[in-house]
Amino acid sequence: MSDPQSDSTSGSTKLTRRPEWAALADHRADALQRPDLGELFADDPGRAERYVVRVGDLRIDYSKHLVTDETLALLRELASVTGVSELRDAMFRGERINVTEDRAVLHTALRAPRDAVIEVDGENVVPKVHAVLDRMTGFADRVRSGEWTGYTGKRIRNVVNIGIGGSDLGPAMAYDALRAFTDRSLTFRFVSNVDGADLHEAVRDLDPAETLFIVASKTFTTIETITNATSARSWLLAGLDGSAKGDEKAVAQHFVALSTNAEKVAGFGIDTANMFEFWDWVGGRYSYDSAIGLSLMIAVGPDPFREMLDGFRIVDEHFQNAEAPANAPLIMGLLGVWYGNFFDAQSHAVLPYSHYLSKFTAYLQQLDMESNGKSVDRDGRPVEWETGPVVWGTPGTNGQHAYYQLIHQGTKLIPADLIGFARPVAELSDELKAQHDLLMANLFAQGQALAFGKSAEEVRAEGVPEDQVPHRVFQGNRPTTTVLANELTPSVLGQLIALYEHKVFVQGAIWNIDSFDQWGVELGKVLAKRVEPALTEGADVPGLDPSTAALVAAYRELKEV
Ligand code: F6P
Repeated sequence: MSDPQSDSTSGSTKLTRRPEWAALADHRADALQRPDLGELFADDPGRAERYVVRVGDLRIDYSKHLVTDETLALLRELASVTGVSELRDAMFRGERINVTEDRAVLHTALRAPRDAVIEVDGENVVPKVHAVLDRMTGFADRVRSGEWTGYTGKRIRNVVNIGIGGSDLGPAMAYDALRAFTDRSLTFRFVSNVDGADLHEAVRDLDPAETLFIVASKTFTTIETITNATSARSWLLAGLDGSAKGDEKAVAQHFVALSTNAEKVAGFGIDTANMFEFWDWVGGRYSYDSAIGLSLMIAVGPDPFREMLDGFRIVDEHFQNAEAPANAPLIMGLLGVWYGNFFDAQSHAVLPYSHYLSKFTAYLQQLDMESNGKSVDRDGRPVEWETGPVVWGTPGTNGQHAYYQLIHQGTKLIPADLIGFARPVAELSDELKAQHDLLMANLFAQGQALAFGKSAEEVRAEGVPEDQVPHRVFQGNRPTTTVLANELTPSVLGQLIALYEHKVFVQGAIWNIDSFDQWGVELGKVLAKRVEPALTEGADVPGLDPSTAALVAAYRELKEV
């Protein structure tokens, strides 16, 4: 007789029918029906020290979560029966765990040491990774030293990365994060939007003769990137002086490509000698530590770039080797499952207390939402459980004066990560460095307020009129993780990114979804291509729905005015 809990085709058990899932649901309904962080701390004096996990330079405090030892044990059980560690090992071994694209998932090979052996189809990929890193190093050194010049012999002073999604967000985020480590004599710009205003604003104050374009595209077919790169080439050729003006040969000195697709790169007119390669086993959103990081390497220099890779590797090794109760990405992934699946939390806020991490959450949005925004499982069956959350947030203190109101007193439960550093970056003046304690006081205060709130009694004790009391009560019990590190160095940035990469992995494994494809972005691309001729040439678009057809007509009418 067949097991009713098993799927007949794959033999895998549906997540929500597992006894471990039911045990968590029961635990939530019984022991943690009305979780109270004040009580949890009172009942467990060691909680503040025990619910801390360390990896590399990161100290991750998860004591302010609505969990007990029992919750954590039940969550680990779920991870165990859903095969998280088996899938993790398969990923690190180079197996084709991206099932819908039939690809290995090996961003971890990008930071493997030179002597490591990681095989894809019987070929060790590590030498290829290091060969590209070495070429990037040589090129970055030549640009930084002034040896690589523009076509007219002028030194390169501006670097413009043109890419989108994973070919933009990573380098743009990391450039901001490591700004203090960058060569300040060079100007860096990141262009992603097909809105011509993006390129216009990026280059309007630059001298074409001093500008290097890095065209970053895994596929080299992405319409936004190719369109912007084509316009950048026109801007360059039109803007060079004297006999160089319009000279196609200038392109070789001013354009390099980062891609997996040599044929398309050559087709665009970029010499493949100026192409830095990566491979189909590097997902776009997992790619900024590949050749996609070239702009960052030019900005910070090859050594800090490699320190960043070392930081990634620290967390990779931890994820592979740390026991489950002390495994940071596992714990963070499980906490997300706990809230998403058992508290109906729909979103997750990432709130860095660092101006340098202004783009960190935007980067994580792609990492998390493109990976785990799925509604069918790895076998294509509809999932019957919630998958990835909406990830959002901006630097903490700014958010405090904008949307924290809702996190504190709204009707939604929003688990949040608070990320901060013990020391500001070295180059601040003493006066500005002194502001750091105020910044961090805000981080700690927010974690405290979210967790423990303020009761009606406390409000009354302050002499607040009775009719005002309900408005001033903070319920508390809003969970946060606090991630602390000494300083935002290249290594620490690598550690943070790897932490989130593996957290996302853990959740995808539990939800049994393919975290490494992104079919959900395809339809919009196809439809845009179909609609565009109607906007530019007034062509008829067969089969357009009435609503979109009316919008297109209105657009054309307005355009003519
Ligand atoms: O938006 C879809 C996507 O394929 C992302 O996954 C990717 O990072 C981005 O487009 C850019 O793709 P490419 O690097 O091939 O230009």
